[in-house]
Amino acid sequence: MKYPVQKISLEKGLLEGKNLVISSPTASGKTIIAELGVINNWINKKGKSVYIVPLRALAYEKYTEFKEKYLGLGIKIGISTGNYDSTSEYLADKDLIILTSEKLDSLIRHKACWLSEISLIISDETHTLTDISRGPTLEIILTLLKENFSPQIIALSATISNAYEIAEWLNAEVIFSDYRPVPIKKGIFVENKLIFEEGAEEVGDFMSFIKTIVKKGKQVLIFLSSRRNTESLAEKISKEFPLIETELPKKVLSTLENPTKQCKKEYECLRHGIAFHHAGLINKQRILIEKGFREGKIKIICATTTLAAGLNLPAFLVVIRDLKRFSGGYSQYLPNFEIQQMLGRCGRPKYDKTGLGILVAKNFSEAEELKERYLYGEIEPITSKLSIEPVLRMHILSLISSEFVRSTDELLKFFEKTFFGYSFGTIYELQKKIEDILFQLEELNFITLDNFKVTRIGRRVSELYLDPLSAYRLIKAIERANLNIKDTFYLQIICYCTELYPLLKVKNKEGLDYEDFIVKNKNNFLMNVPDAWDFEYEIFVNSLKTANLLKDWIEEKDEETILEKYGITPGELYTKKINAEWLLYGMQEFSKLKGRLDIMKELKKLELRVKYGVKEELLDLVRIKGIGRIKARRLYNKGIKYR
Ligand SMILES: Nc1ncnc2c1ncn2[C@@H]1O[C@H](COP(=O)(O)OP(=O)(O)OP(=O)(O)O)[C@@H](O)[C@H]1O
Ligand SMILES: [Mg+2]
Repeated sequence: MKYPVQKISLEKGLLEGKNLVISSPTASGKTIIAELGVINNWINKKGKSVYIVPLRALAYEKYTEFKEKYLGLGIKIGISTGNYDSTSEYLADKDLIILTSEKLDSLIRHKACWLSEISLIISDETHTLTDISRGPTLEIILTLLKENFSPQIIALSATISNAYEIAEWLNAEVIFSDYRPVPIKKGIFVENKLIFEEGAEEVGDFMSFIKTIVKKGKQVLIFLSSRRNTESLAEKISKEFPLIETELPKKVLSTLENPTKQCKKEYECLRHGIAFHHAGLINKQRILIEKGFREGKIKIICATTTLAAGLNLPAFLVVIRDLKRFSGGYSQYLPNFEIQQMLGRCGRPKYDKTGLGILVAKNFSEAEELKERYLYGEIEPITSKLSIEPVLRMHILSLISSEFVRSTDELLKFFEKTFFGYSFGTIYELQKKIEDILFQLEELNFITLDNFKVTRIGRRVSELYLDPLSAYRLIKAIERANLNIKDTFYLQIICYCTELYPLLKVKNKEGLDYEDFIVKNKNNFLMNVPDAWDFEYEIFVNSLKTANLLKDWIEEKDEETILEKYGITPGELYTKKINAEWLLYGMQEFSKLKGRLDIMKELKKLELRVKYGVKEELLDLVRIKGIGRIKARRLYNKGIKYR
């Protein structure tokens, strides 16, 4: 039997509504189990199915696939990964909803009317629970939905070593298999050799090895630790491959009105059938590249972890070139579960009969280390990351705001039901933190503890998916603001919020200019300037530099010049823009609540200027579809100023 987990799932009650934790290798056909669950749920009119994924790319892949398969049957499918201040009413009549855990969390905050109709939850890539930044959200929503609506839960992962623990938490059966229908041969590349368990093979240098594979008509995925590394390796490899004729390079180049250096680099690589893929690319380009690889128009992709989990791609060979990541001040070997997820992208049943997964070692002694860690090593257990403070603060406000808890006691009981509570057997460690946060939220005026209710403004903070501390800063800034405040100071205050992190760092040689500006404008800032010896001062100066980046953008400085001046990629600029728009929108909502309509108008203009990257005078023109900042400027200079 090629897909044993599928049979066992049926035997263990998949169609009888049993909760299941399925722990089985990459490419072992876990998705179909989820699909059977969805069809069963739909045929029996039990309610809605929700499919939770950690990556937008994966949401998109599943959505496309399910639509193709099931729209004909009449199953209505929706996807939602976008705007967090929206109840997404259109989802109300869908039978299957695919979304990220953050989006589902935001729908809970907005009290989406159909939540109680959820009767099946698929949690794909459940090892995400152990991820510091995304795990807590998944943990909270799983706890909340299981405690309030008792849906069937199907949790999937190829890399959970403590499946029994997760299963006990979710009151589920474990389905375990170690069978992968397409075998992967795993080995290590070191000094022109491939070392496997059964012996070594001479393959020439790295480039010749890759070229031999591609010559056989196979495709390759190479994982690297940074965006820069993906770009430079893709460029290097593309010089070794002949030009090929496809429309793809041009399509990718024309996604931006004014292509940047990075776009041109990608274009050059693509002309040779090579690409780089990282979070610094804009979404449209990423989708085009993923599609190009699936259609065989791209032979090799050099990627960061953006393609590391769940995706079905036609890669015969996966190479992990960088095995360490810089974190917490030093470089560390990646956890084994991440490595196995990346290796799992090769040899997918739809495309190949075997796969090859290779780790690159710098020398023979590292090769030994890699063997121990990743070829014979154990996979780390999943642990809860819920006790991190900013995360806890956001979720506590949300739980109170959405009225899922109505007293401190209920709140503590809720945390006992989380994976944290389950695995430690007590929430003693959390209790003190939770109580401190409750006092802090009351001090910020977001909740009132005597009746355990959210305030009007607290509810809005929760709905807007903002860190309560950021929201507090924005509200205080509104109280200080007047109509003479210049853009820079609004931009500075939003950059001071964690949502705009990581901030640009002020270099030594720039330090004096910034200090000078700060001293001269001390009274214009929308927050108190921290003392120069305070650790917050550095954040303050960096927030000002990040604000200057946004300021250059809305003053219509050329995009390429901005990227070079601040040393960032188009994707980084894009993310900053999106988050800045979001905070400016949040600030308008708070101005409305505070009755400051004068400020609200200013903020609306600023939000649009950040969105389009223009001075105020162009706002009317850029709102016309197909007219970007550059075209609008040309029209304006020719005297065409309005719609
Ligand atoms: N019973 C089956 N017969 C033939 N092909 C199958 C069967 N089940 C699954 N497949 C194919 O196997 C491939 C991998 O399946 P799937 O994406 O579900 O893997 P997975 O277990 O979710 O892996 P990962 O952990 O990497 O997400 C898909 O292309 C799917 O079409
Ligand atoms: Mg999967």
